[in-house]
Order: sequence, then C-alpha cells, then structure tokens
Amino acid sequence: MVKEPLQGIRACVFDAYGTLFDYASAAAACRDALGEKLERLTTIWRDKQLQYTWLRTVQGRHADFQQVTGDALDFALATLGLTQSSLRSRLMNLYLKLNAFPEVPEMLAKLRAGEVKTAILSNGSPMMLRSAVDNAGLAGLFDAVLSVEEVGVFKPHPKVYQLAVDKLDVPARNISFQSSNAWDAYAASAFGMQVVWCNRYGQMRERLPGTPDREIKSLADLPDLILLR
Ligand code: LAC
Repeated sequence: MVKEPLQGIRACVFDAYGTLFDYASAAAACRDALGEKLERLTTIWRDKQLQYTWLRTVQGRHADFQQVTGDALDFALATLGLTQSSLRSRLMNLYLKLNAFPEVPEMLAKLRAGEVKTAILSNGSPMMLRSAVDNAGLAGLFDAVLSVEEVGVFKPHPKVYQLAVDKLDVPARNISFQSSNAWDAYAASAFGMQVVWCNRYGQMRERLPGTPDREIKSLADLPDLILLR
C-alpha cells in the first residue's frame, strides 16, 4: 500500500478500543485469576461485545456500551466456567482504566502541533471514554471525545461517522479516520472519510464496501501520513 501522505486532512478521528486503548490490558491484569484462560477470555469478551452492538442495532434495541460490555463479559465468563463473582467487577473496573498504546501521547501531540484537530469517535459511553482518557493522561490532547450515545446507534451505522463531521465542522473528505478494527475502517471509508487502517492485529482485509487509503501497524507512523513536510 502507498505510503505517501494523505491530502487535505484537517482532522484526525480515532476509534477508541483496540486503536488508542488496549482492551487486552484488562484481562492481562488478572493473570493471577485467569491463568491459561486469559487469552480466550479476552477474545470471547471482545468478539461478543462487538456482536452484541451489531445485533442490538439490527433489533433496534440499543443499550449503552457499558451494558453491552458487561453482558459480553458475563457470556465469556460463563463460557469458560469462571464463576468467581469478584472477577466480573474487577474486569469491569479495569475496562474503565485500559492502558493506552505506548505511541499514543506523542503521536497526538505531533498532530496537534501540526494544527490538525484530534477527536475520538467510539461506541464507548461518555462515562467510559472520559474514564479511559483521564486515566491514560490524554485529557487535553483531543478537540472532541464523541460517543455514539449522541446518535443512539452503534458503529458502523453512517449516523455515527456523520456525528464527527457535524461536531468537528470538517467535511468527511478532510477527515482521516483511524481504526484497528477492519470493519470500522471500511465503513468509514464507504462513508467518505479518508482512512488509515491501523492493523495492529494482522486482520485480513474485509469484503465489505470501502477501501482504507493507508495501512499501518502502529499509530507512531500516522503523523508522517498526515503532516506535510
Ligand atoms: C470503539 C470500538 C469499536 O471504540 O472499538 O468504537
């Protein structure tokens, strides 16, 4: 994939979970209790969480991401026969304090120094996002932290991507959207944003509408794609 900078970018909009914040860091902090089930718990919890967002959207039965995350965790714990009641609250609390990926603070600071707006656009509820941002010491590095709760529907509904256009007052073609979730990257591209797919997890390309414009493995490579030298 080409590595030339994108043209005309005025705002960089980021997915939260898996892109800025490492959702695996919650279970990783419970290695003592999870043991060899740690990786499977992380995978089932994340997969089920996303499935529930899509299924609730199709059913027209929205519940916020905190509820969906808890429901998905219950499913994952039951699947693995993890019955310790304190584990659920421990993991849910940790989900509010996820580690940011190490390159994130410097990357955001570089973009902002280059006069590019920065924002989060996430399924997360406002409470969850505030907690994650504050805990990771990223407050002050975003022009906006946008939750799907403002439109009452989860990604990849086009209303979610439109929210960023409306709130930032920047046309879609002048926004670069970053996600590690291939389906999210493709949907933002189909919507009309320029897209940098941060493919941290080595996912396959989707067979869905949209074509991410660039693919990187770490957000450390983003400023070179955005800032004109
Ligand atoms: C989010 C999920 C999809 O932050 O990662 O919106």
